[in-house]
Amino acid sequence: MTDTTITADAPTGGADSAASVDETLAALTLEEKASLTSGEDFWTTKSAPGVPSIMLTDGPHGVRKQRANGDHLGITDSVPATCFPPAVALGSSWDVTLLERVGIALGEESLAENVGVLLGPGINIKRSPLGGRNFEYLSEDPIASGVLGSALVRGLQSQGVGASLKHFAANNQEADRMRVSADIDERPLREIYLRGFQRVVEDEQPWTVMCSYNRLNGVYTSENPWLLNTVLRDEWGFTGLVVSDWGAVNDRVAGVEAGLDLEMPSSSGRTDAQLVAAVRSGALAESVLDTAARRAIELAFKAVAGARDDASYDVDAHHALAREAAGASIVLLKNDGDLLPLATDASIAVIGELARAPRYQGAGSSLINPTKLDNALDEIRVLAASDAVTFAAGYAADGVDDGALLAEAVAVASAASVAVVFLGVPAEQESEGFDREHIELPAEQLALLDAVIEANANTVVVLSNGGVVRLSGFADRVSAIVEGWLLGQAGGGAVADVLYGEVNPSGRLQETIPVRLQDTAAFLDFPGEHGHVRYGEGLYVGYRWFDAREIAVSFPFGHGLSYTTFDYSDASVSADADGLVVRLTVTNSGPRDGADIVQVYTSLPGSAVVRAPRELKGFAKVSLAAGESRVVEVPVRRADLAYFDTRVDQWVVEGGTYTVEIGASSRDIRATSTVEVEGDAVRVTLDLNSSIGELMAHPVASQFIMQAMASQGDGFTSALMDDPGMFKMMESFPIGRLAGFPGMGIDREQIEQLIAAANAA
Ligand code: BGC
Repeated sequence: MTDTTITADAPTGGADSAASVDETLAALTLEEKASLTSGEDFWTTKSAPGVPSIMLTDGPHGVRKQRANGDHLGITDSVPATCFPPAVALGSSWDVTLLERVGIALGEESLAENVGVLLGPGINIKRSPLGGRNFEYLSEDPIASGVLGSALVRGLQSQGVGASLKHFAANNQEADRMRVSADIDERPLREIYLRGFQRVVEDEQPWTVMCSYNRLNGVYTSENPWLLNTVLRDEWGFTGLVVSDWGAVNDRVAGVEAGLDLEMPSSSGRTDAQLVAAVRSGALAESVLDTAARRAIELAFKAVAGARDDASYDVDAHHALAREAAGASIVLLKNDGDLLPLATDASIAVIGELARAPRYQGAGSSLINPTKLDNALDEIRVLAASDAVTFAAGYAADGVDDGALLAEAVAVASAASVAVVFLGVPAEQESEGFDREHIELPAEQLALLDAVIEANANTVVVLSNGGVVRLSGFADRVSAIVEGWLLGQAGGGAVADVLYGEVNPSGRLQETIPVRLQDTAAFLDFPGEHGHVRYGEGLYVGYRWFDAREIAVSFPFGHGLSYTTFDYSDASVSADADGLVVRLTVTNSGPRDGADIVQVYTSLPGSAVVRAPRELKGFAKVSLAAGESRVVEVPVRRADLAYFDTRVDQWVVEGGTYTVEIGASSRDIRATSTVEVEGDAVRVTLDLNSSIGELMAHPVASQFIMQAMASQGDGFTSALMDDPGMFKMMESFPIGRLAGFPGMGIDREQIEQLIAAANAA
């Protein structure tokens, strides 16, 4: 072990590898089986004969393992671990390979700390900018969340450490999170809020899924059989264990019955006894408890098989990875006149307390105790010429108004060629457990910025924030804006790298930056009242909303600048049974090496169901040397083209001519193509209340009707079919009500026969 290497203690317990899960389970008493389905304490599971105890701990962007003498409330004092950038930043990198590498590093650190399951990633949708935990989530888009979440799980689990995909599901706010019912129609639920989870489960089989605290359409997710069994297991094929969020269990027996396998943390035996009593009374089948206990045994065996007593990691190497990841996550929002990157000998005034006291992660259960901590001011001084940098704090960390600090900042700004102002959301405003009240930067920071802009025409703003902030008050008055999110322990170095061009920025927004909070989709329906929050915006979340309503935004989803330029040419799209393949040539037409994020959006004009004007379906990060060109392929899975058809409870790919847009952001579409996609056959069960339009859309019923018409000559039905105006008028008319209309030429009995024949065909 070197100074910068952390190694594992010996793994706790050990599975009897010779014994199968079934044998182990069969040898347990009822009490032992019940005991396996809840925690021993805050972070470990119980052992039983042949079953070792394992540790599950936070998560998601570092290992937060509490010391033995911790507070046992799970909040304070954890062992040092690399604080990688939180999800808000990692997501903005759109870099699948990078996230997999971060996952691997998290796995190495988990092994070194003898942690069997790391509690992450969190992939809930950023529904409102006010969501208190948006810093822990990846995107406002489900495909981006699913693809990037998969990469984290893949990396972590490749090391023999389990992931816990959370918070399942519809935990999109902190307000009343332990009780509120997220009331969501089935299409948005499936297409927006569950889609990312589905992708990660189907592609990566996370060892565990963590159910959320909230209720979903009235039922606690911890005891929701539709969510945990029907959807997660029967439809998606999940084979792992469902663990409760810490304290999410409302009714333990109902939970186990519904597919909840492990209650965390410990209930001190109270709810285990309830399970035993329920089995004894016949209220709960023992086989149901066996299923949960079996999954707990399987998880423990997997964790012990993955554990390595020689595990270690290199603290410096992980710090370097954290810096690389942070650099790839920074989004350059604006750069007028190519003010950035800075020359190393340019005289710059660094202004803002956040430059030397960084805000690099959010508060709550994901709070990592970092192995090191960079700050931007020191790192800028490493990269810049020795006499080029001056500093003024500008505002006090506690927000107390201080005229002297402001005057000092104006003085250094006036004397420098460029002012770099660090602004951000105070830590106390962004945390697990409560939502934000607004998206404004603190007034004293905005006053400082106004004064600096007056003093220096070359002003750069660097932001530190977990959720988006309103920029419309000053965006057009500054030269450059660097969106620095919360960047983890090496974020200070990464900001310096971007400012001086050591790293060419390639991050792109995963969350639209609105002009005003009032413009956002959930504004009128967040966070709900009296235990319910209605997702009234339906499918129109994030950019889907702004595009459908044609609302101006400050910076659109997918936006981000580079110090070079990229051109797209030769775009083409082809379709096959697997989906689409989008091909294009990307050229780095500027002076520097750099990376672009190519985004593919689709839409279906004339669709029979409501759809957003464009939906992200694929993306690719492309690194190109200056002047280099490359053909890039972006595959789109056929399943990702599907909408959820609530008539048949199935995903359906609607046939038709799809529009495929290739863009550098959702509002910077560089090429548009169309492609024919063959649709799935949808067989809706018909009855007398089915409309004429539905009958005509039915593959069999429509044939019968055409035949009936042909045999009738001039009757009402043929007039209906021959006259488009008449058909439009009658399209929504229930077929049963037509029977017996004068001149119809078809009676009720015949219609019943027609429907029966169509349904049977
Ligand atoms: C959080 C989870 C976390 C758990 C354990 C809960 O409050 O919602 O994300 O993994 O605590 O700390």
